[in-house]
Formats: sequence, C-alpha cells, structure tokens
Amino acid sequence: MDPDVLRRLHDILGPAGVVADPDLLRGYLSDWRGAYQGTAAVVARPADTGQVAEILGLCHRRGVAVVPQGGNTGLCGGAVPDRSGTQLVLSTNRLRRIRGVDRADQTITVEAGVVLQTVQEAADAAGLLFPLSLGAEGSCTIGGNLATNAGGTAVVRYGTMRELTLGVEVVLPDGRIWNGLRGLRKDNTGYDLKQLFIGSEGTLGVITAAVLALHPAIRSRATAWVALSDPQAAVDLIEIVRATAGSRLSGFELMSAQSVEFVLRHVSGTRDPFGSAHPWFALLELSDPMADAPLAQTLETVLGEAFERELLRDAVVADGSTQVAALWALREGISEAQNHEGPSLKHDITVPISVIPAFVAATDDALRATMPGIRIVTYGHVGDGNLHYNLSKPPGTDDEVFRSRAAELARVVYDSTAGFAGSISAEHGLGQSKREVIADYKPAVELDLMRGIKQLFDPAGLMNPGKVLPEG
Ligand code: FAD
Ligand code: MLT
Ligand code: ZN
Repeated sequence: MDPDVLRRLHDILGPAGVVADPDLLRGYLSDWRGAYQGTAAVVARPADTGQVAEILGLCHRRGVAVVPQGGNTGLCGGAVPDRSGTQLVLSTNRLRRIRGVDRADQTITVEAGVVLQTVQEAADAAGLLFPLSLGAEGSCTIGGNLATNAGGTAVVRYGTMRELTLGVEVVLPDGRIWNGLRGLRKDNTGYDLKQLFIGSEGTLGVITAAVLALHPAIRSRATAWVALSDPQAAVDLIEIVRATAGSRLSGFELMSAQSVEFVLRHVSGTRDPFGSAHPWFALLELSDPMADAPLAQTLETVLGEAFERELLRDAVVADGSTQVAALWALREGISEAQNHEGPSLKHDITVPISVIPAFVAATDDALRATMPGIRIVTYGHVGDGNLHYNLSKPPGTDDEVFRSRAAELARVVYDSTAGFAGSISAEHGLGQSKREVIADYKPAVELDLMRGIKQLFDPAGLMNPGKVLPEG
C-alpha cells in the first residue's frame, strides 16, 4: 500500500485505529472456518461514522479497494480480502455504541459493530425482544447481519433482517454519509434505499448504524424434539403446527441423522434424547408474550395429531430451560461439529417447502452417484424451506482430494435446487464462493440490473471487489 495512504490512515485513526502487526492482522485475513485466505498490509478500525467517511473519501481519491468486515463469521468469504495485498480491510469492531432504545417506538438504534447478542441483551433489559437468532450470535455483528440479510432460526415468525430493519446509516463509496435512520414504520417517499444496502455484502457502501424493530418479550415457551422417518413427515408436521398454533410457531428446524451424529460425537455435553436410531429429527418451538399462555397444551395437541397420523417415531417435550438449551445445542452444534470431520462444503439453498421431500431424495441420489460414501449433512430452517445441504468427505478420503471435487459437488446441489425452482443462497449470500456460479442460475436481466445498481453507487468498483457480482 502507498506509504502516503498509510500515513493518512494513521492521521485519521491514530495508533488504536490501524492494525499492521502481522500477528494481529492474521485474524482479519481468513474467515471463521479457515476456508478463505487473503492478504492486506493494514486493517483500519474507525471509531465513529465520521472516521469511516474520512477513510472512504481517502480510498476513493487514491483508488484503494475496501473490504468491510464485521465479526468475520460469514460463510462465503465475503469479508476476506483477496491475495493482492492492496485491499484495505475496514473492521467495524470499534463501532460498538448502542445509541438508544425506545420503548414507545419499539426500536433500538445501534452501530454496525455491535455484536448481535449484545443487541438481544439490550432489548431484553428494556423488556423487549430482538428476535434475530443464529449460531454465531456471540460474535457476528449487526452490520454483518444487515449486509448479508441474515436469517437464522426465528425467521419463520419474525422474518429476516429485511423485516427487522427500519432505517440505516451508510457511508457511500465516495465518503458521503447518508443518514437514513428515520425509524418510521411507514415511509412511501420513493424507492426504499435501505433495502438495497441490506444483502449487498459490502459492495455498495459501509453500513455504520441501523434502527431495528423490537417485539414483545417472550414469557412462555414450549419446545419439542421429534424423530421422523422422512422429510415428508416434517412437511406434514409444519402444516399441523401452523394450523394449530398459528403465529406462535417461532422455530422449526430439521436435522438428518448424520448431522446429529456429528454433534453427539464432537460437542461435549450433548446427549441423544432418544437413545435409539432414527433417520431424521425436527426441533419445534412455540412461544408467546403472555406469561401463562397454554403452549404446553397446544404442543400436546400438535404432537397428538401427528402421532395419530403416524408422522412421528418418537417425541420429547423439554421440561424447563436446561432441557430447552440441551435440545437447541443439538441443533446449534452442527456447524462446529462438522468442522471436526474434515472440510465442510456448504450449500445454503431454499426450495418451496412442498417440494422438500422430492428435492432431498433427488439430490441425495445425485450426490451419492457422484461420490459414493459421501456424508450428507442436511439440516436447517425447514419452516422457511431453507436447508443447509452440507457435505463431508467419505471416511478415509484425503482432505485435498475432497476439496478438489467441491465445484463438481456444488453443481450437483445447485442444479437440483434450480430444477425444483429454488435459490442457491437462502441466507448466507454469494460472497466470493458463489459469485461466478450465480451467473448460471440468475436471469441475465436480473444480473444486468444488479450491475447497473453497483455502477450507480460505486462507479470506480472500490467496494468489496471480487464479491457478489460475477466477473464481466
Ligand atoms: P462478516 O462475516 O464480517 O461479513 C459478512 C459480509 O458482510 C461481508 O461481505 C462483509 O464485507 C459485509 N459487511 C460486514 N459488515 C459490514 C458493514 N458494516 N457494512 C457493509 N458491509 C459489511 N447466517 C444466517 O443467515 N443464518 C444462520 O443461521 C447462520 N448461522 C451461522 C452459524 C455459525 C456457527 C456461523 C459461523 C455462521 C452462521 N451464519 C448464519 C453466517 C454468519 O454468521 C452471518 O452471515 C452473519 O450475518 C455475518 O455477520 P458478521 O458480522 O460476522 O459479518
Ligand atoms: C446454521 O443455520 O447453522 C448455519 O447457517 C449453517 C451452516 O453453518 O452451514
Ligand atoms: Zn442457517
């Protein structure tokens, strides 16, 4: 990097705001899984929106590319710089202020680097709920959640970040600040610009703050772990829960036996609730703001009907918060557990819920034909039609040999997804991992419109180059 740019960065940010020590840099240059690796001479750590604006203004004038980074928990390499060493990583880890919680408006205004769990706790302290919930919530940031339009386990009731966001503050690639923190529930004064930044994966500007919608706190909860014969039973069960519990359904996750087996093997303290083998499991949760909501009875009605229709092989209802946590640990531990089994090839897809059984059957067959012995780790937010179709190598296969087949295996999953009218990224985004392949699955006219938007916001192409949009 040009020494003059480095000097200016030091002038703007002071010593606490610039990381150049190779030991400290390392953590910013690869992702949580260690699946992507980049290089950079420095990381900039601005402490407020004004400093972000000065940095982007400087980079704009000097032609320096910028890679925004939050908690670095993303799963498609979006926050990792390339290997040129010329890109500047802009970390939001000093933008950590909660600017305010408003009970009457049911909103919280936070800076981009605030960790999701901190927002949940601040809402809770105000007697409210911020419902976004995902396995990485102890380290991912609101800026990253916005930039990826994060989903997670409560989307079935509360929606993704798009539905939870009322306003954003953004620094544009030329250094101008757009303060869109209006926080209004209704605002029909033209194009809804905040939605362009949500899901933009750092390619249109740096999100520095947001106004988020809060919900009533949850005071009753009922949670069950059930064993199923096949995905069709899960689809039928969702229909029963929706008809019986309506909007009280706040979580519906599906897990293959392979997924749960990995958790039991690698995550200490986890225990199999049944002690006998079953091919599929589902975790369902009902919740309500009323302290004495009759959720246990509702759950009993749901499970009773499901047993009668022979959809369930077994079921256990959590008794108290320790058991609730133990059941969720079986679900939330899958990502980490899979990392112990060699490279985990991730495919985050959605299809219409109704076709999930046929989709799973066809995709599993195609994968096994491509690589006999492959371990298929299917799980996810089935209430949203979102499955993580993750793959682990056949036992005994060399890691590098397995990795070398990653593109071919992804093709199998994505072609099948497209054949069932699905999307090849439900919630993780495109980042660098799906940026080229998206050209084969999105209509050319849609990609043209996306390129037009990119050109309008970032004509010099300095915001997170090499991510989201295919080359050319
Ligand atoms: P980063 O990884 O730092 O960045 C992600 C992208 O956002 C990059 O493109 C980056 O450039 C951009 N970005 C970050 N901050 C900003 C900003 N302020 N302005 C502009 N661009 C920015 N995701 C889900 O959706 N649902 C899940 O259920 C889920 N479960 C997960 C479980 C585990 C165990 C792990 C490790 C990850 C999981 N994820 C999940 C993925 C990840 O946690 C989310 O994508 C999260 O939203 C990323 O936040 P982050 O702060 O770590 O972002
Ligand atoms: C999850 O829901 O656990 C993650 O989004 C999926 C993953 O880690 O592949
Ligand atoms: Zn997920």
